[in-house]
Amino acid sequence: MFRLAHVTDLHVRNFAGARVRDFFGKRAIGALNLALIRRRKHRMDLLAALGEDLRARPRDHLVVSGDLGNVSLLSEWRAARSWIERIGASVDNTTVIPGNHDAYVKEVVLSGAFEQIFAAYQRADVRLEAETYPFARLRGEIALVCANTCLPTGDLGAWGRVGEAQLRRLEALLAAPEVRARFRVLCIHHAPVMHRPPETRNLCDRAKLAEVLGRVGAELVVHGHDHRDEFAELPGPDGHRIPIVGAGSASYAGAADRCSRYNLYQIDGPRVEVLTYAHDTETGSFREVRRRTIAPAVS
Ligand SMILES: [Fe+2]
Ligand SMILES: [Fe+2]
Repeated sequence: MFRLAHVTDLHVRNFAGARVRDFFGKRAIGALNLALIRRRKHRMDLLAALGEDLRARPRDHLVVSGDLGNVSLLSEWRAARSWIERIGASVDNTTVIPGNHDAYVKEVVLSGAFEQIFAAYQRADVRLEAETYPFARLRGEIALVCANTCLPTGDLGAWGRVGEAQLRRLEALLAAPEVRARFRVLCIHHAPVMHRPPETRNLCDRAKLAEVLGRVGAELVVHGHDHRDEFAELPGPDGHRIPIVGAGSASYAGAADRCSRYNLYQIDGPRVEVLTYAHDTETGSFREVRRRTIAPAVS
């Protein structure tokens, strides 16, 4: 059995070293939003408590599926990396991909700063055409296939896009013999289906991603972004259904059904058990709040 922990949407707050000139355009609005709303919505003490729980939880691998920061500051990402290090997660057994909040500013995205800070957590076993995304990490019977849905949107939207070129490489990667022979877990930030409108916060080319998955398949898709537990399915090849699991935010401080949480996937052949651990406000500790078994399904 392979135990894959899935943490997402840390939304770490850290302005260390940031300069006034860093706060223009979308980052200014994001910082204002941070000051007025997100400070209450995302609590760093909950993230620290989640880290303590995760440190003691046996696992084979940890995937962090984006929104590590809020406004794409290097200080946020370095603080997020320190959090990963503190929970005793090794670079070989931890994988990190960006979210839309990690792609707030075009210049920062073009600089590749996120990929530099998390380079060791993106060290690939398979990568096509020397492009950063997608990439695959092979761990025993598991292939973690990681794609990037995030780009500087140029507007205030939280939408994402995989893009034609990455979709083409993703299809080839999922079909590569050393990947296809394993249990393929596709890790992305945005959901490949729409759970909630509006379009301005969803994956705009999700229909094309669904087409790729319909042709080449994947055994499991995990994502973040919506800050809530979600489940869906997409049709795969030969009538197989592909389970799509969304995890809630690691630092969210709102209602109990969305409060700070993470998922643990116990993968045993084609069978997957999804355990959700969430913060309990009464005890201050994390407890299992949901257990879902996904068996191989053919429609
Ligand atoms: Fe988020
Ligand atoms: Fe997001």
